Amino acid sequence: MRIVVTGGAGFIGANFVHTLLNDHPEVDVNVLDSFTYAANESSLTDITPEQAKRLTITRGDVADMEIVDEVVRDADAVVHFAAESHNDNSITGPAPFIQTNLIGTFTLLEAVRKYGTRFHHVSTDEVYGDLELDDPAKFTPTTPYNPSSPYSASKAGSDMLVRAWMRTYGIPATISNCSNNYGPYQHIEKFIPRMITNRLVGIRPRLYGEGANVRDWIHVLDHNEAVWEILQRGTIGDTYLIGADGEASNKEVVHMLNEIMGHPQDDYDHVADRAGHDLRYAIDATKLHEELGWYPSFTSFREGLEETVRWYTEHEDWWKGEKERVEAKYAQKGH
Ligand code: NAD
Ligand code: DAU
Repeated sequence: MRIVVTGGAGFIGANFVHTLLNDHPEVDVNVLDSFTYAANESSLTDITPEQAKRLTITRGDVADMEIVDEVVRDADAVVHFAAESHNDNSITGPAPFIQTNLIGTFTLLEAVRKYGTRFHHVSTDEVYGDLELDDPAKFTPTTPYNPSSPYSASKAGSDMLVRAWMRTYGIPATISNCSNNYGPYQHIEKFIPRMITNRLVGIRPRLYGEGANVRDWIHVLDHNEAVWEILQRGTIGDTYLIGADGEASNKEVVHMLNEIMGHPQDDYDHVADRAGHDLRYAIDATKLHEELGWYPSFTSFREGLEETVRWYTEHEDWWKGEKERVEAKYAQKGH
């Protein structure tokens, strides 16, 4: 089986490639990635010579019809992770989000339509907007779309394109909307790796606003396991929500990280809040449990965080070169 993994040099995509190479010897992988700032070549180097024979890396833009046509022509399936993925960046500069997330997805859809290729679209829970802190309801596959940021609006738009191509052209596709991921290979602009690497270089963690915002954390390997199950056994045309009942406020996460890293719980700074900051996300993954029997294997968020802290501590060479640049960018925004 030949699978194209778009965005396979980014956080979730690279973890997915490792899972395919480690656990699915019948699969050959073609990573289609344009290697933006968010990609890291060394995320894909820790593989055996045998695995290297099953991995092709195609440097190219998902919005480039010619390259996309070339890689999709030879594929049995496309798993589409590539995106501009960081909310803060979408607020300061939305243009690449529209280009990659909308035009890129459109370009892939046209290629899979031409070749009848199985397509899985990786999306986010942010398309549903946010919830009140005390709202008993969680996001389900029928929750109305209500995105808040340029990033989430562009992802919502990409989901709509996939839905339209499924209905109008009958492309064999599925969609998943997942909550916040954490784990190895995540870019240090994102909350958890930023807080961990801040501690490692001697900067206090930075909480936006009061830190009351809640995210529903899931380990990246659990997300990817669910994507694999949907790709294999999901109902064509359906949307699946992926989450692991991992709700925690940002303040709680920083408290935990401080404890794990040997600092007093309240050793952090409050900084300016994010514009339009979503308050809370929460996923109801019942459909995935009932239809596909998927459940997360990382059931303790604290243990997952401990493992993630260990990974960043042991892989300084993976992130150190980026730290100064990322922090300089945050400093400009008052973060
Ligand atoms: P990431 O930013 O770490 O990686 C994105 C990858 O896509 C990078 O390797 C980048 O080089 C590549 N890319 C960007 N633009 C491209 C283009 N035009 N052509 C080809 N490649 C391009 O992102 P991530 O956190 O791994 O997220 C992957 C996907 O999962 C995204 O679609 C995101 O919306 C979705 N998602 C992320 C999370 C999360 O918590 N990180 C949660 C739910 C869904
Ligand atoms: O819900 C899924 C989404 O999760 C994905 O679609 C996005 O690609 C992914 O980036 C993530 O979006 P968030 O905006 O929730 O993640 P981020 O890591 O940027 O921030 C998590 C929370 O932490 C958010 O409430 C903002 C806050 N934060 C973030 C940073 C970087 C801080 O308090 N301090 C920080 O320094």
